[in-house]
Amino acid sequence: MADLTNMTIPRHVALILDGNGRWAKKRGLPRTMGHKEGCKTVEKTVEIAARMGIQYLTVYGFSTENWKRSSEEVGALMQLFRFYMVRLLKIASQNNVRVKMIGDRRRFDQDIIDGINRLEEETKENTGLTFVIAVNYGGRDEITRAAARLAADCVAGKAAVSSINEELLASYLDTAGMPDPDLLIRTSGEIRLSNYLLWQLAYTEIYVTDCLWPDFSQEELEKAILQYNSRERRFGGVKA
Ligand code: IPE
Ligand code: IPE
Ligand code: MG
Repeated sequence: MADLTNMTIPRHVALILDGNGRWAKKRGLPRTMGHKEGCKTVEKTVEIAARMGIQYLTVYGFSTENWKRSSEEVGALMQLFRFYMVRLLKIASQNNVRVKMIGDRRRFDQDIIDGINRLEEETKENTGLTFVIAVNYGGRDEITRAAARLAADCVAGKAAVSSINEELLASYLDTAGMPDPDLLIRTSGEIRLSNYLLWQLAYTEIYVTDCLWPDFSQEELEKAILQYNSRERRFGGVKA
């Protein structure tokens, strides 16, 4: 295990949990088995992050582009989502975790939308880790929806065009009120953002591991945090 004594724990960790399909393929299993295993890893990671004192953990669960997959795979993902929402309610209560969903939930079946609303409502007073799940989420879609709402407010006289700045636009994003991620972890080796948190990741440190998502563990998270601590964040400035 990595020694994290004296290490800075990032306040906000964003995760692209990739590689469920490859994990299953390696074992001659259907892709959906990889997703099932991946859900178990999400559960474990929430508990680990809460214990470590991470304040925000944002995971990419389903992108606006993932609807392109076969109807069987999308259907299986929706079923898993239904099942894990119920489990998550329990885990969130046990670990003082507040759950929040980002993305356009309107495209889901009504029972899923109700489940999301319930999860958010019943955990909103929890004061530990904020666990954010990005579902039917796309960075471009989020910015487009934010721009449309801001434009509507301008037309209605609730906002002035002259008052538009980065802070105001950010307050229309799904992540309003949340700090930007300090560390982005992507599993399974792909070095791309895949439309994740395009606005929020502007100055985030990026860590990519070959580990497939179902195999992700506390040790992998600690390795990422150790690596994060060796980075020099300059935000466009110069070294002090
Ligand atoms: C990530 O695993 C989970 C989702 C995108 C829902 P993948 O399903 O993308 O797994 P690979 O990339 O095919 O291995
Ligand atoms: C990103 O993974 C989306 C999620 C993890 C939910 P993908 O597997 O969909 O991304 P690409 O297709 O490799 O870019
Ligand atoms: Mg993938």
